[in-house]
Amino acid sequence: MRQKFVAGNWKMNLTLPEAQALTSEIVQMLRDEQHGPEAAQVVICPSYPLLPAVGRLLGEGGKVALGAQNCHQKESGAYTGEVSAKLLQSIGCQYVILGHSERRQYFHEDNELLSQKLKAALAAGLRPIFCVGESLETREADETFDFIAKQLKDGLFHLSNEEFDKVLIAYEPIWAIGTGKTASTAQAQEVHAFIREQVASAYDAEAANNTAILYGGSCNAQNARELFSQPDVDGGLIGGASLKSRDFVTIVTSF
Ligand code: PGA
Repeated sequence: MRQKFVAGNWKMNLTLPEAQALTSEIVQMLRDEQHGPEAAQVVICPSYPLLPAVGRLLGEGGKVALGAQNCHQKESGAYTGEVSAKLLQSIGCQYVILGHSERRQYFHEDNELLSQKLKAALAAGLRPIFCVGESLETREADETFDFIAKQLKDGLFHLSNEEFDKVLIAYEPIWAIGTGKTASTAQAQEVHAFIREQVASAYDAEAANNTAILYGGSCNAQNARELFSQPDVDGGLIGGASLKSRDFVTIVTSF
């Protein structure tokens, strides 16, 4: 069976004390929930400066893994203000979100740049969580599938089979992010199944079957169970609801 995942994307939220308090609450609640080894892999993705402190609270070999929200495409060098995948790996990150729609929109990250970031992350030993998803305009124009197929082809499918094995995909319809408007379970399942088909034709049936495809976009403690019950939804990438310990832990245990 495919591994389930729930990743919390804290975005540009929380100070150090707030992040420490939230992490401690999540760790404690998961302990109380008897979150067993067959349960979802949990990943927390805080802002860069919070990573070491959050990582210490999660502990070595703990049940919750650490992830970053971005990385630079170069290994090192004169790129003031940027952070390399190698550095992230050295401070305990195992995952990195790449291609989030906010990065695509506000920082002009395109599929070509993202394809380089994916390479850099994989070379450093990080597992990328590669985000795709259409705008409302694209959905209303009935172009969702073409748009997502292009994001996958141009951004992701240049990877070798071996590299692709490490990748998680997140389907995040832009119109559902932070809006309180969730994709219906049927809409989510339809796109997830389409993404899996695309993986099967770019790689093979085994790769498609093994790839975790997460849903993101106003996923919360109330709707997670229904979304996660869909055959091609392997968990979630959670924004707003990951900032509340009880809600996040409820989502983590919604399988
Ligand atoms: P949201 O964000 O859960 O607040 O909609 C999801 C995301 O952007 O990853």
